[in-house]
Amino acid sequence: MNLEYLSGFGNEFASEALPGALPVGQNSPQKAPYGLYTELFSGTAFTMVRSEARRTWLYRIQPSANHPAFVKLERQLAGGPLGAVTPNRLRWNPLELPSEPTDFIEGLVGMVANCASEKPAGISIYHYRANRSMARVFFNADGELLIVPEQGRLRIATELGVLEVEPLEIVVLPRGLKFRVELLDAQARGYVAENHGAPLRLPDLGPIGSNGLANPRDFLSPVAHYEDLKQPTTLVQKFLGELWACELDHSPLNVVAWHGNNVPYKYDLRRFNTIGTVSFDHPDPSIFTVLTSPTSVHGLANLDFVIFPPRWMVAENTFRPPWFHRNLMNEYMGLIQGVYDAKADGFLPGGASLHSCMSAHGPDGETCTKAINVELAPHKIDNTMAFMFETSQVLRPTQFALECPQLQPAYDACWASLPATFNPNRR
Ligand SMILES: [Fe+2]
Repeated sequence: MNLEYLSGFGNEFASEALPGALPVGQNSPQKAPYGLYTELFSGTAFTMVRSEARRTWLYRIQPSANHPAFVKLERQLAGGPLGAVTPNRLRWNPLELPSEPTDFIEGLVGMVANCASEKPAGISIYHYRANRSMARVFFNADGELLIVPEQGRLRIATELGVLEVEPLEIVVLPRGLKFRVELLDAQARGYVAENHGAPLRLPDLGPIGSNGLANPRDFLSPVAHYEDLKQPTTLVQKFLGELWACELDHSPLNVVAWHGNNVPYKYDLRRFNTIGTVSFDHPDPSIFTVLTSPTSVHGLANLDFVIFPPRWMVAENTFRPPWFHRNLMNEYMGLIQGVYDAKADGFLPGGASLHSCMSAHGPDGETCTKAINVELAPHKIDNTMAFMFETSQVLRPTQFALECPQLQPAYDACWASLPATFNPNRR
């Protein structure tokens, strides 16, 4: 299937898989075209200010209400409950790919979270590993999902249409959207941020102006595509952290036409217009923000999705790696490909690190020594894509994350080799 996409961010899109399936001039006519049912899919409260309101009108073969009771599944999400709070810096090797048949939901494992599932704020972070397509359909009542593939292409069939993503692309699925993740390669692995707070949006650009960073037209949403299938289908939902399921006699991906702005979208990180210094020092990493979920405190993010893409380093008389720092914000980093410029080793594609509020970090000893002594010339950091989920509340690791063999026992040691260079007699 050759996929078509609608281009733009936050747009009021309209799409129909059959001509005339969208009612004209009103949302809910007495009889919708083709005998379809009308359904409203809200991503924000009805009374949200217009600039932030998200909702989509769906015209579907069966309304979502047509389902039996959900039953709690015996097999819940992997990762377990949150473990002990720790101020320590943590780093994980990549999780192993599954040896048993595992779909996207079975292979989702909780790593860290900063709130109870019932709170309308905060984030949870998962890694996924899969080697088979989902046969069932899933939706998440607990938040929006930001999926960051590290290996393997995904075909994501959603209520609003089909998206295909590959590593170096990301996809965002609104809270509650039904979808099925199919594998286009033998196996898949990556990261998921579950955003319980305000939906992700593009950051403001301030003095940067009206262009730059992620440009709106590079965000792609699917066109309407429906399944008119009368076959048993398991519908799973995550509700306050627990998995529940019911059996339908039809595919719930049965939306023939829709219009609105509460939509899934994908974005190719290679299109990010990376901005940096052309003189000295380098700006705060907020300059690399792709998407942000704001809180009610202006400038304080519930979730920032930040990338470290290929870029030219030209700063003169500058310590070029990310500087040593201690932040208010909590940083969970992952690596999609290549090498991250602050770490000589130990941070691998598929791996992760956690630096919590006020925990000191920065380049490791080897990177630091090299950066201080290197002759500076324009240099391109290439073939790399690290990213960060940054959040204002402390992230607690799950029991799994604290006990898994991928947790590196000696992460602190990477800063132990920083040489003592202070000499009061030599300025
Ligand atoms: Fe940091």
